[in-house]
Amino acid sequence: MWLLAASASLLPAVLLLSSRYRGEAAALWRRAAAWLLGLLRGRVCVRSTHAFVFTNCTHGKVHSVLETFDLYTKTHPSASVGPQIGELLDEVVGRLRPLLVLELGMHCAYSSVRLLRLMPPAGRLITVELDPVTADLGEEIILVSGFKHSQFQVLACSSAEAISNMPSHLEPHEKTGAGFSLVLMDHDPEQYLPDLLSLERQQLLCPSGCSLLLVKRDQRSAGLGRVLDHIRGQADRYSVTRDLQVLTEVFYRTDGLTARST
Ligand SMILES: *[C@@H]1O[C@H](CO)[C@@H](O)[C@H](O)[C@H]1NC(C)=O
Repeated sequence: MWLLAASASLLPAVLLLSSRYRGEAAALWRRAAAWLLGLLRGRVCVRSTHAFVFTNCTHGKVHSVLETFDLYTKTHPSASVGPQIGELLDEVVGRLRPLLVLELGMHCAYSSVRLLRLMPPAGRLITVELDPVTADLGEEIILVSGFKHSQFQVLACSSAEAISNMPSHLEPHEKTGAGFSLVLMDHDPEQYLPDLLSLERQQLLCPSGCSLLLVKRDQRSAGLGRVLDHIRGQADRYSVTRDLQVLTEVFYRTDGLTARST
């Protein structure tokens, strides 16, 4: 009898607990499902973009590759940045003529091709992609565009890993050189600040001037807010040169006392 009474008195607590955990479990499940769906969608999108561009472009012709990408993004949802950011990239690369460029987040390689197309012949692009399948497909698109392995390198790993091992990926003359004069960040915004701090720490940003392009796929991202706070708090080194809805351009230099070479 006392057992029944005891369990009856416990019942409300048990019910309360199980309903609370049910709520949490459901929320957790919803988050996991959304993440998985995003991942699958990303992959499917990269695969179908790749198939469309690979079969429909003229191999060896960079203009045809970019046109085919644009045709695809006009008619399909796509992970590539599209012509609006593409034109901004053209303008920045044309102005800076960078010899060493870092791209974090390669996606379908649209921006990689766009960057390579206007870089000086001696320039080199290092592009980082976390997903190994995406990295392989992207590399194929860069080769199809007519670029050689001497002009670019694809690193299939996390951005943090790529940056911390960067010296081993650089050519001898790049190791003693000025570092990156253009960095395009289009990966996980949560990584923007830690990666920027790591690039600073390792002195990989060209001290006489480096353009940072931060792609804003999600305006409300907390990571984006954090990196912009850091940049605005270091006015001696950073200045925001362009703040658009899709992208923020930041100029970095640490030898501000010497005359501008340009
Ligand atoms: C090539 O383009 C055509 C028409 O623009 C399209 O229907 C076809 O699906 C594309 N090929 C691939 C493999 O996506």
